[in-house]
Amino acid sequence: MDGNIIEIRDLSYSYPDGTLALQGLSLAMPEGKRIAVLGANGSGKTTLFLCLNGLLRPRQGKIFYRGEELRYDKKSLLRLRSRLGIVFQDPEIQLFASSVRQEVAFGPLNLGLEEREALVRVEEALCLTGTKDLEQKAPHMLSYGQKKQVAIASVLAMRPEILIGDEPTAWLDRQHACRVMELLHEISAKGTTVIISTHDADLAYSWAEEVIVLQKGKLLSSGPPEHVFQAGEMLAAAGLGQPLLLQLFLLLKGKGYILEGAAAPRTPEALAGLLKGGS
Ligand SMILES: Nc1ncnc2c1ncn2[C@@H]1O[C@H](COP(=O)(O)OP(=O)(O)OP(=O)(O)O)[C@@H](O)[C@H]1O
Ligand SMILES: [Mg+2]
Repeated sequence: MDGNIIEIRDLSYSYPDGTLALQGLSLAMPEGKRIAVLGANGSGKTTLFLCLNGLLRPRQGKIFYRGEELRYDKKSLLRLRSRLGIVFQDPEIQLFASSVRQEVAFGPLNLGLEEREALVRVEEALCLTGTKDLEQKAPHMLSYGQKKQVAIASVLAMRPEILIGDEPTAWLDRQHACRVMELLHEISAKGTTVIISTHDADLAYSWAEEVIVLQKGKLLSSGPPEHVFQAGEMLAAAGLGQPLLLQLFLLLKGKGYILEGAAAPRTPEALAGLLKGGS
């Protein structure tokens, strides 16, 4: 299990109505990486995340956190949730305090930290997420994008080892979506393992270091994005597309504009640099 912060073995989960949402899932998530769980609607991304933080208990299979099997007694779950924070897809269900500051302070105070230490964490989370100016406002008065930033701040203030964002850019405009992804990049650069779910292949391709593809609750593929996204047919079977940048690269390569053996680029600039005669 070297280097993996989470390992899942043969995980299956059925909802009470009988829907089999995860089926025999086995995978590993490397520590300190930016990880994207990619899948079409209903493929099991949210269910997987709820299993990871112990909100749902799988009917079969095991989850290991740093090599230690996840247990479901109250003490183990509290410990797990102080180390693994989830930002839910809909920030409305996450925010409940009467001011942004109280919202962000709730987690650290609830961890039983001394007030001084809790305040340091609150300041840190407000500054990192750019929500310091909003600290006196009521969360329900904020715009959707601001609510999302505050939801991230409230989880960050717990200083989790793993930050999970369930569709972190859903319903955000381009500017706010970019800001959230940059923020998740910065958090990852500080050493936190960051896991997101998305059905946006372009987003996963440009942001992630490791990609996990789900289809109908099963693992279809996993590995570095340059590798996973080469398999166009597999992605189509999962109801996903190939990233636009990769499509362009393959097209230009097929037409002889790019040297054989060139590695797939991750940015438009890198693609331009591969063009024959380009600089
Ligand atoms: N509370 C529930 N009761 C019954 N079935 C559920 C429940 N929640 C989810 N499901 C079903 O489980 C399957 C996986 O759902 P899940 O929400 O994990 O998918 P997802 O990949 O997160 O989808 P999306 O991209 O739409 O958020 C779907 O078939 C869904 O209908
Ligand atoms: Mg979901």
